[in-house]
Amino acid sequence: MAEIIDGKKISADLKDEIRDKVAALKDKGIEVTLAVILVGNDPASTVYVGNKKKACEYTGMNSRSYELPEETTEEELLKLIDELNADKEVNGILVQLPLPKHIDEDKVIRRIDPDKDVDGFHPESVGRLSIGAPGFVSCTPAGVIELLKRSNTPLDGANAVVVGRSNIVGKPMSVLLLRENATVTICHSHTKNLKEICKNADVLVVAIGQPKFIDCSYIKEGATVIDVGIHRIEGTKKLCGDVDFESAEKVAGKITPVPGGVGPMTIAELMNNCYEAAVMQNK
Ligand code: GUN
Repeated sequence: MAEIIDGKKISADLKDEIRDKVAALKDKGIEVTLAVILVGNDPASTVYVGNKKKACEYTGMNSRSYELPEETTEEELLKLIDELNADKEVNGILVQLPLPKHIDEDKVIRRIDPDKDVDGFHPESVGRLSIGAPGFVSCTPAGVIELLKRSNTPLDGANAVVVGRSNIVGKPMSVLLLRENATVTICHSHTKNLKEICKNADVLVVAIGQPKFIDCSYIKEGATVIDVGIHRIEGTKKLCGDVDFESAEKVAGKITPVPGGVGPMTIAELMNNCYEAAVMQNK
């Protein structure tokens, strides 16, 4: 049976470390402030934004909340971002996605000052990551790396396979694994011999958005399996990932559960990015 990588515990440790670092910064007279913008009242987004505010409170950061009506125009939103970019008290800016259909998401993300882009979604942040320059990294893949490191999973020279090529998970994930000196393969919906490639992985990161897609037949004995997916099992209140956990845990060496694996790491990494933003801006 596989060892469970406990994302809840690891994220709690990380948040406690950040709380200490934020307190030390406060002793030097520097406060950390995150501005969160929510447009409309999508129920899931409202919950996510609430969790981000709670994490700020826990780690001792200030959070400023901008809850705008669904009818907000693109121009109004861009104007608010310009004001927050210019506001010296604000270290990080997060625009909760998705935005209403009449607003161009790409344009909004590009408007955020890359030095305040704590989500790591700005093309400048993506570019910095790909050339190894300092910058913000998308929180979910950064959280996966932290899970791998804190569970003592060797990455140097390991065969790492990422299933999924999204801009916010798959692509940055592959760059981060490369930065750790893994040999990285990215698979996607057009990949031939997916099963064979996955079966060769020492580290398998799955982010395809399909419930229980990966079972034990895709996994090498003893491999570390990271499940980024999260789905509600139809007709129940239960959650599952992209990996069929019951099947996979029989073969894997280490595995993340859903819930309680990658999920809790994302907010912890967001807090870390806000802390880093404050440090950088006060240099
Ligand atoms: N919507 C779902 N996940 C995220 C995220 O990580 N950041 C933002 N800004 N919006 C999201």
